[in-house]
Amino acid sequence: MESTELLAATDQCLAKAADYIRAGQLVAFPTETVYGLGADATSDDAVARVFEAKARPTFNPLIVHVASLDEAENFAHFNQAARMLGKVFWPGPLTLVLPIRSDARVSKLALAGADTIALRVPRAPIAQKLLLAVGRPIAAPSANPSGKISPTSAAHVLRGLAGRIAAIVDGGACPVGLESTVISTGVPPALLRQGGLAQAEIERVLGVPLALPDDADGAASPGRDLSHYAPDAALRMNATEARNNEVLLGFGAIDGTENLSPDGDLTQAAANLFRLLHVLNGLGRPIAVAPVPEEGLGLAINDRLRRASGQR
Ligand code: TXA
Ligand code: MG
Repeated sequence: MESTELLAATDQCLAKAADYIRAGQLVAFPTETVYGLGADATSDDAVARVFEAKARPTFNPLIVHVASLDEAENFAHFNQAARMLGKVFWPGPLTLVLPIRSDARVSKLALAGADTIALRVPRAPIAQKLLLAVGRPIAAPSANPSGKISPTSAAHVLRGLAGRIAAIVDGGACPVGLESTVISTGVPPALLRQGGLAQAEIERVLGVPLALPDDADGAASPGRDLSHYAPDAALRMNATEARNNEVLLGFGAIDGTENLSPDGDLTQAAANLFRLLHVLNGLGRPIAVAPVPEEGLGLAINDRLRRASGQR
């Protein structure tokens, strides 16, 4: 057990956070999607600590964060489609799975034996500053115990990982609220995980529909079939009212104990999803969730809810 230091988002504190990471320690920090659990991606020891702190299966590889597309090209081979997506959507909530370069300086443990690497350039200014201060790639999964609800505030991180990590940079709530969308840019490009960048926006830029490997190669994204986002009690989707002891998480006109977005706005619902699941989970009762439309960010919201409800 170590004590976990809470750091403010000042330059001085970020310098301290960077020192911890460069020394092989773990620091949680805000990105625009969720809080990440950051480690020096070039260090096997540091990356091993990430798997240990989260109790994450070591066959599930980590996303490697870098400061720019230029830097990302030092780690992976970009085809035309990949470069176009990087130019349009980075920095932002998009992760690209690409063939790794043989000279990439990154821990093999972070890749879990794959010959690909998942790269992301985060947009949140705190994440950008931290990357610059560390001067190395940062491996960062979501900063929650494996399988639990993802963190969108420093308090969520503390609740799950206090005593297991060196520090948390508190940058307030994450504006997007859902993890990045994960794409592999083979031919055709495939959607490995729905996320904070809507599928339709990516398809508009690519000019072709993304392949959906849900019904194809199960190994394409090793993390996909694991249990995820699970509240302590049961979660039921597409509910129009609470039954028995349930608390209702509303959407739009279907109101409940909490409401993802009274206006029925999917961007707002995404930003609120994990926060409200944390709130309702704290009540210790089963959760019912109102229907969320299967469009735009609603696809990613429903993906997380299905996993939280134990469906795949
Ligand atoms: O928004 C995000 O992506 C956040 C922030 C911190 O950047 N990170 C995050 O990481 O959600 P994590 O570890 O919770 O999810 C990473 C996902 C997993 O499903 C993993 O299996 C997949 O990306 N992944 C990582 N490397 C991969 C690879 N080489 N091939 C296929 N999938 C990969
Ligand atoms: Mg995660």
